[in-house]
Amino acid sequence: MATVLAIETSCDETAVAIVKNRKVCSSIVASQILVHQQYGGVVPEVASRQHLEIINEAIAQALEQAELDWGKIDAIAATCAPGLVGALLVGLTAAKTLAMVHNKPFLGVHHLEGHIYATYLSESTLNPPFLSLLVSGGHTSLIYVKDCGNYETLGQTRDDAAGEAFDKVARLLKLGYPGGPVIDKLAQEGNPQAFALPEGRVSLPGGGFHRYDASFSGLKTAVLRLVQQLEKDNGQLPVADIAASFQDTVARSLTKRAIACALDYGLDTIAIGGGVAANSGLRKNLQAAAAKHNLRVLFPPLKFCTDNAAMIGCAAADHLSRGHTSPLTLGVESRLGLTQVMKLYQPVE
Ligand code: KG4
Ligand code: ZN
Repeated sequence: MATVLAIETSCDETAVAIVKNRKVCSSIVASQILVHQQYGGVVPEVASRQHLEIINEAIAQALEQAELDWGKIDAIAATCAPGLVGALLVGLTAAKTLAMVHNKPFLGVHHLEGHIYATYLSESTLNPPFLSLLVSGGHTSLIYVKDCGNYETLGQTRDDAAGEAFDKVARLLKLGYPGGPVIDKLAQEGNPQAFALPEGRVSLPGGGFHRYDASFSGLKTAVLRLVQQLEKDNGQLPVADIAASFQDTVARSLTKRAIACALDYGLDTIAIGGGVAANSGLRKNLQAAAAKHNLRVLFPPLKFCTDNAAMIGCAAADHLSRGHTSPLTLGVESRLGLTQVMKLYQPVE
């Protein structure tokens, strides 16, 4: 059983964790949210600087919390793609340096593969195949998990990610950043049927609609038009009703696509990940629909759904057990498809 120290700095969380395969020995997550809040979103340069300032302390804390020293660490891993280039560079450079200094194997990890592995941290007996629904501020995808390093993206958003749509709608309702939690809370008091909104269907060139892809940019524009119209008509915005209608539309859209994917591909388990997995509307909708079709839905605890390094360590440990390691020349990539995960590792001799 490999013990891996992993670093995650792809966006605005400086995270370091130590995992023993699927068991978390320690997990440090330092969120930068308060710093970025004043700008209404993540500022890449500020994120890199913040990572630099706290990475060493986070590594020290992870070792301390796990009560381990470097002698007990078998490998060092870091997220290398996709994400903000400057932010990724901080974590990757730290991991490569530590691997060199302590003479340990090094592994670069794909951020989305990490999100998939997050499910194993709470469901240690789960094994592929299953369907992963990743819904965060940066990604919205439906992934057929076939094996370690073997993924097929079945569906995705054509434009805004689900979390991004929550953040943008919250901004236009003047609710602050991040938008998901505040919309979720307001939606509890609103009527989800108050306004009919488009659920983001994607047209196919030959007619009809894509079964798995969605477009959330049109939904955001529809909310903007609705707000403008309501302001013109009576000045007073029924914010809770708008929040509830928007949330319900996103939840129905994601649920419909995830269920269609699972049924079409004969997958009996849907594992959800990313910050939007916290959304009460999505949870309720997906659970009800899954029960109707005898499908199992796994909602890992939120601390493993949002960005963390334990999920990165878990993915790295599995790759390491198959003999995969990365060269120290590995660089960061802002964009890299999940189907290209294996290009991060050198061939097993
Ligand atoms: O996974 P995450 O922490 O970071 C990445 O983007 O990788 O996801 C953050 C996103 C934000 O867009 C935030 O608004 C959204 O998750 N979010 C929610 C909720 N909590 C966080 N969206 C809807 N409902 C929530 N309860
Ligand atoms: Zn993420």
